[in-house]
Amino acid sequence: MKYGYFDDERREYVITNPQTPWPWINYLGNEDFFSLVSNSAGGYAFYKDAKFRRLTRYRYNNVPMDNGGRYFYINDGGTVWSPGWKPCKTELDKYECRHGMSYTQITGAKNGIEAETLFFIPLKTWAEVQKVKLTNTTSDVKKIKLFSFMEWCLWNAEDDQNNLQRNLSTGEVEVKGSTIYHKTEYKERRNHYAFYHVNTAIDGYDTDRESFVGLYNEFSEPKAVIEGRATNSEAHGWSPVASHYIEVELQPGESKEFIFVLGYIENKEEDKWETKNVINKQPAEAVIERFNTVEKVEAALNELRLYWDTLLGKIVLESGDDKLNRMVNIWNQYQCMVTFNMSRSASFFEVGIGRGMGFRDSNQDLIGFVHQVPERARQRIIDIASTQFPDGGCYHQYQPLTKRGNDAIGGGFNDDPMWLILGVVSYIKETGDFSILDEMVPFDNDMSLAQTLYDHLTISFNHVVNNLGPNGLPLIGRADWNDCLNLNCFSSDPNESFQTTENNTEGSKAESVMIAGLFVVYGQEYVELSKRIGKVDEAERAQTEVNKMIEAVKSKGWDGEWFLRAYDFYGNKVGSDENEEGKIFIESQGWCTMAGIGKEEGLCEKALDSVKERLDCDYGIVLNNPAFTKYVIEYGEISTYPAGYKENAGIFCHNNPWIMIGETVIGRGEKAWEYYKKICPAYLEDISDLHKTEPYVYAQMIAGKDAYKPGEAKNSWLTGTAAWNFYAVTQYILGIQPDYDGLKIEPCIPADWKEFAVKRQFRGAEYNIRVVNSAGVNKGIASLEVDGVKQKGNTVPLFDEGTHEVLVTMG
Ligand code: GLC
Ligand code: GLC
Repeated sequence: MKYGYFDDERREYVITNPQTPWPWINYLGNEDFFSLVSNSAGGYAFYKDAKFRRLTRYRYNNVPMDNGGRYFYINDGGTVWSPGWKPCKTELDKYECRHGMSYTQITGAKNGIEAETLFFIPLKTWAEVQKVKLTNTTSDVKKIKLFSFMEWCLWNAEDDQNNLQRNLSTGEVEVKGSTIYHKTEYKERRNHYAFYHVNTAIDGYDTDRESFVGLYNEFSEPKAVIEGRATNSEAHGWSPVASHYIEVELQPGESKEFIFVLGYIENKEEDKWETKNVINKQPAEAVIERFNTVEKVEAALNELRLYWDTLLGKIVLESGDDKLNRMVNIWNQYQCMVTFNMSRSASFFEVGIGRGMGFRDSNQDLIGFVHQVPERARQRIIDIASTQFPDGGCYHQYQPLTKRGNDAIGGGFNDDPMWLILGVVSYIKETGDFSILDEMVPFDNDMSLAQTLYDHLTISFNHVVNNLGPNGLPLIGRADWNDCLNLNCFSSDPNESFQTTENNTEGSKAESVMIAGLFVVYGQEYVELSKRIGKVDEAERAQTEVNKMIEAVKSKGWDGEWFLRAYDFYGNKVGSDENEEGKIFIESQGWCTMAGIGKEEGLCEKALDSVKERLDCDYGIVLNNPAFTKYVIEYGEISTYPAGYKENAGIFCHNNPWIMIGETVIGRGEKAWEYYKKICPAYLEDISDLHKTEPYVYAQMIAGKDAYKPGEAKNSWLTGTAAWNFYAVTQYILGIQPDYDGLKIEPCIPADWKEFAVKRQFRGAEYNIRVVNSAGVNKGIASLEVDGVKQKGNTVPLFDEGTHEVLVTMG
């Protein structure tokens, strides 16, 4: 069953039934200030950091689901309803939620009143703007009562829910005119406050939760709304909230619009106060002034639209397939930007108080957005590399506010360093900016230890070479890409986290075949990059190491029908036919085939055939098979999950594209495409009841074939899946690859695709690329013409400007 539809023209997903199988959300904000908004207006706002600067309160995993947000209530002659259906859940005559590019518009109608609510965060603004348009569609005069409502979070989202003995006494507010100010802790160490304003005179307000909601009432039946009046309460401690009360009279056919602004202000120490205990409101008033008319709000919304036109104008696909077009042109790119902004911090599965930015995650995310915002990608690379250790190891995570490595988790994940090469190489191929390699970048944020970024890459490469195990394969350390394959952890205490438990790597023989493949792929990239900048000797040295690794994989990493996954602490095989459970794993099949290891001897084909046979199912490719059914202490967290979920034989969507790319390496276009479609959300819209999460964005995980309910997705939005699928489909299936000397064209498609076209902006010029496949092949280019001139090879040469016509004939 479907719960809505795609409106591609407006780049929106339109939800027509509020009772989606899970809240379907959107993100507002593009730089410093962000909000999450669900299809019933649930969610919250924060400034930069969802843990330390949360403006509004939200209750995760609550009953009912999705509790707390920015709610509007209408009391129309005793009938109380909300335009977003929740929290009142009064049956509506009309409901529609349009999630667009950084804005959401929710419209509800009841008894002849239509309420259209629009939410967005204007560019370069620390505020969420909410426009509420009320229309009387009857032929009678209507007198209704409008209430706004949200709860303030006492800034630190974790402390807010924990430290009640303090927090229930600290809350402070001020009210001036139509603006409610939240100033908890402002008089001591905070230099920031928040405000909630409406651009009209109000008939009352509430700032104390108990006065507004009632101690034993629910959000669906706030006392003030039911009674049809505000109490003008002033919060002192307990739970400060913000609610405006407005009496609205509407003539037949008349509309009235109100603009609400939820903002965040920082003041300098000397500018904090107007008078004793009265906060300096000038900066807030300036923000309010910028959005106090409908015209100003429309103009800001248009700017936002133009911003997205620019970002999404860089790659535009025209294929015969609407679903593919909308994923490539709109939603997959949008998700990549959201992932860039949020990393793994705040979603409806990530509670915004946990992990910081992942070293490997952030490098991988980069391949999904570098073409959109290359300058920001450059800064991101420097930030990430600055948390590397002098020996090449890396802090596994860093905190976005401080940009420092996270001591709680530390380092020792031995795949981490190689991902830096992916990030840097992708950036240079997109931009041609080799100067980034000369940037002086600190280690462990210590500038006195700084070396060039190129040196960081050398040290990353060497970290693998310096940490090889008995089979000449890379030692795994605490884990590789699979955070849950903890081969040195041996945890027997349920109160320990697998992620932070001190590992026993002393004397360990645990090696990773996945890192070996990763090393061959990005080691090769490192060789190529070194050559490009004239470091010929270094390139040669590195090539020798890569060659050794290829040999090690062939002799010690091949199991007969597929690549082994690893060796455990004792040197026993992991992911071998000899094992009872976990005989085969996806990661090493992906990386070793992407690396083309043993391609000539048929190893890649064999490995991918084994994937098809043992790991593929109706909903995607599972991570391992058979799933683990008991806890294996020497394998760690992977064996803790019930069969079919997460890293234990779930369809971990992040790694499916590795197999798609592997298939393109051996030229099997049908297979690559089949795997692409299986997990791609737009193709799953019709099974939304089963799939559960948004049909417009990828989820991290879909329950695998061993699960209780195969096909059910979880953890949508913040996942490396977004970047990898975009990368796989644009660069390996459609085959448009940014390269040092131009755009390399190497499609690998189903034989029955006749043609497609891609408009690609690249280093200042625009390319209209038309790929024709009348020959009906999967792969291979018979000819390449640029502006009517035949080219040698398959790379479109660089132009500084202009529009260029590229004709690719496959064959
Ligand atoms: C999560 C983590 C990522 C890891 C993956 C597999 O997505 O963010 O770093 O590679 O899980 O364990
Ligand atoms: C890690 C993994 C993730 C896992 C989580 C919980 O971050 O990447 O997939 O399930 O930790 O321990």
